[in-house]
Amino acid sequence: MIVLLSRSKTFIPSFRRVFAYYSTSLPNTLDIAGKKYDTDSNYTNVTPSILSHVNENLHLRKHHPINTLRELIENTLNSVDNTFKTYNSFSPIVTTYQNFDVLDIPVDHPGRSKSDTYYINKDYLLRTHTSAHELECFHDLLLQENITNRGFLISADVYRRDEIDRTHYPVFYQMEGARIWDRSSLALLKSDLSKLENKLLDIDKGKNIIRLIVQDDVSLEGNPKQNYMTMEEYDLCSRHLKRSIELLIKQAFAQKIKNMTTADINQTTTELNVRWIKTSFPWTAPSWEIEVWWNGEWLELCGCGLIKQDVLLKAGYRSDSTIGWAFGLGLDRIAMLLFEIPDIRLLWTKDERFHQQFRDGAITSFKPYSKYPGSMRDMAFWLPDESLYVELHENDIMEIVRSVAGNLVESVKLIDKYRTPDTNRTSLCYRINYQSMDRNITNQEVNKLQELVQDQLMSKYNVILR
Ligand code: DAH
Repeated sequence: MIVLLSRSKTFIPSFRRVFAYYSTSLPNTLDIAGKKYDTDSNYTNVTPSILSHVNENLHLRKHHPINTLRELIENTLNSVDNTFKTYNSFSPIVTTYQNFDVLDIPVDHPGRSKSDTYYINKDYLLRTHTSAHELECFHDLLLQENITNRGFLISADVYRRDEIDRTHYPVFYQMEGARIWDRSSLALLKSDLSKLENKLLDIDKGKNIIRLIVQDDVSLEGNPKQNYMTMEEYDLCSRHLKRSIELLIKQAFAQKIKNMTTADINQTTTELNVRWIKTSFPWTAPSWEIEVWWNGEWLELCGCGLIKQDVLLKAGYRSDSTIGWAFGLGLDRIAMLLFEIPDIRLLWTKDERFHQQFRDGAITSFKPYSKYPGSMRDMAFWLPDESLYVELHENDIMEIVRSVAGNLVESVKLIDKYRTPDTNRTSLCYRINYQSMDRNITNQEVNKLQELVQDQLMSKYNVILR
């Protein structure tokens, strides 16, 4: 589910006044993880239901698939030359400077908007990606003297206002990785790269082999290198980055195969198609994404690139002294794929039937148990006329449903939208599927939830139910 920062869908244009989520009952301060933060009626949009996830730390919970995957990646990358320092307990509350400015994310980037991001106030937010900690980790590496090759891995929960379905949850886990080299010791980069390439060759000699078929257009066309780097540095550094990611994909899938029966292995392919796609991120150049062909579609697993010198300068490095790479990957999506977990909410369930299936370090397929029945409700409404119009983004509707129904909702989908040509009014219809991962919910309970959702939608956005 990595879905990079570009996502945003504003489907209702123009607005009259800015809506603040807690307009009626916003407390003056919020107590989060033992610290007090002032609220701001123009910015605060974190809800109690979102804040309840702070400190859940699924990535550190024994036997949990996210934890198993995190450890697998850390061990795999460190098995080559033991260079990555791991950081797994950064607080999710960061400043807008850390989350956006340091990385040169433009002020008008949709990722900064209140419809996409959970703000505590104007200056603090729940991090939307682990890249928010790159600067401090680069700085930390700088303080470790006498080490010429260095890197780090950061795993943490990240938060985004988003749609509701089986692959999206407002909290998910990412891992950030980075590696740097002093330009005065290119020999080291060369030897690190050959260690990595040898490791990949070694794995191919072992059992449980996954063969990667890699598509990679290595030309710099449309994805230029930074001027301060030589062609050779660009070539070595980007190969080290790509081979590192390929190594971790290969090892993760090899672990999966290890726990499959021969019959299952025969059905699953032992060849994996992956492709590198050129893209752009404000803090890397060149930049790529890697996609894997799985179940008939290309799935994006990771964004990465060669770290822009500007970030390194801000972290205190000397001009022209250092080159390096960085990546960010979504752990939930990869865990769902490897452990065959069909609904992201299962990662959050308290049901022992889920948790008892997993052992530490092993990638095993989830065996579905009987699902609790769900119940569907449609909600059709007219947007109000202009005089009463309050900015409404689809994520605001999602947020209302989440704050009322929490984990009792499986998906929310827009199923109908039309505009009357004569009166110029817009009608929307959303289908909400209520279903619990943990228990039976009664019709009566669902009716009550639906009523609350509709009440909030009417009182906050002046919509008219149909
Ligand atoms: N932080 C990005 C996201 O969540 C992912 C990413 C892309 C991280 C490129 C990186 C990078 O370190 O170099 O969308």
